[in-house]
Amino acid sequence: METMNWIQWMQDRSSVRTFENRDVQEDTMDQLNQAIIDVNEGLSQQAYFKLIQNKSKGEKAQKLGTYGIIQGARNFIAVITTQDEVDACELGFLIEKVVLIATGLGLGTCWLGGTFDRSSFEDHLSLKDNEKLVILIAFGYKKIKQSMIESTMRIMAKSNQRKPASELFFDGNIDKPLDLSVLSDYAKVLEMARIAPSASNKQPWRIVKDKEYFHFYCCRTPGYGLMNYDLQRNDVGIAMCHFEHAAMELKLNGKWEELKSAPSISNWEYVNSWLVKFPIIQ
Ligand SMILES: Cc1cc2nc3c(=O)[nH]c(=O)nc-3n(C[C@H](O)[C@H](O)[C@H](O)COP(=O)(O)O)c2cc1C
Repeated sequence: METMNWIQWMQDRSSVRTFENRDVQEDTMDQLNQAIIDVNEGLSQQAYFKLIQNKSKGEKAQKLGTYGIIQGARNFIAVITTQDEVDACELGFLIEKVVLIATGLGLGTCWLGGTFDRSSFEDHLSLKDNEKLVILIAFGYKKIKQSMIESTMRIMAKSNQRKPASELFFDGNIDKPLDLSVLSDYAKVLEMARIAPSASNKQPWRIVKDKEYFHFYCCRTPGYGLMNYDLQRNDVGIAMCHFEHAAMELKLNGKWEELKSAPSISNWEYVNSWLVKFPIIQ
């Protein structure tokens, strides 16, 4: 891939659940496969990504293990963990990076953390005893006309909407929403984090600006997303992926620093902090 237009891809991406019933072009598949190889090589924990190509045709192919929610997809990326304790935040970050690359390759994608038949996919993958399938990404060419089930899901999850910035970004403490108009380029970076996808569109990330840091927290939805894999920490990783890649593209140097003494906020879990290299213009 020649240029990495991360911000464009973030803006272009939305979940696709109705796919054209045709194969992905070979060179596109090769580029995506390369992205997966790169991720697998860089993973710091026991997990790996694997391509699944569903060779069955017709009705059977369309309904394989996704309760009919995903229609026409022949391809999936399976994310498999090989130990119980995994850092879902790191995985979420890397999965979203691959999703954005797929978007750049002209592919539609849909994250699947719940609505798939885990055991049918696990059988298909012939997983070992210690291995667990935690996430699937369905991908292929987007069909213009959405299925009824897809339109219904989008309405139910309010997928076209996101929480306003005032509910997600704060200045020093959670009583003070962050004024984005004073942030220069970081306003764009935060906007890219705001539009990130999340499981059931819960958007559990919160960001607190504190001097030269942006602290990231997870604000959990009670009773949600902990059964098989920590979906909400995964979601914070997705928002971090958008944040870092938008900052990188805008040439805003910074780095992640997991602090021992980050401000604690009741009911929110601290996750990580972005240290800006240069003071933000106020
Ligand atoms: C971690 C994660 C898990 C998800 N799991 C499912 C799922 O099981 N089934 C589904 O149809 N959509 C799933 N989604 C898609 C979300 O519903 C979707 O991202 C959200 O509603 C926002 O819509 P958008 O992706 O079109 O921006 C998941 C998304 C994420 C990030």
